[in-house]
Amino acid sequence: MSTEKDVIISARGLKKSFGTGDSQQVIFENLNLDIYRGDFTIIMGSSGAGKSTLMYSLSGMDRPTAGTVHFAGKEITK
Ligand SMILES: Nc1ncnc2c1ncn2[C@@H]1O[C@H](COP(=O)(O)OP(=O)(O)OP(=O)(O)O)[C@@H](O)[C@H]1O
Ligand SMILES: [Mg+2]
Repeated sequence: MSTEKDVIISARGLKKSFGTGDSQQVIFENLNLDIYRGDFTIIMGSSGAGKSTLMYSLSGMDRPTAGTVHFAGKEITK
């Protein structure tokens, strides 16, 4: 029996930005994150920090600008 915990959600090099050129607003970039199965994980930050935007990318509800998200070993950002 393994005591190592499974990674359920894994993000690598994740970036989300809105707009283009001078008006481009980068919400997050170069974001790497592993969330483990069974863990209680919270995302904290001030209003407008990008919590909901991150959740949309991690859940597959929205496409990140760059990077990958794997859910249970399967890439959901293709
Ligand atoms: N569809 C969109 N188009 C342009 N900008 C957006 C869009 N969605 C979010 N933003 C911007 O991204 C930034 C992060 O917003 P987000 O809603 O992710 O923050 P939050 O941390 O969830 O805030 P809150 O605590 O108020 O829920 C904000 O500056 C917001 O204006
Ligand atoms: Mg929010």
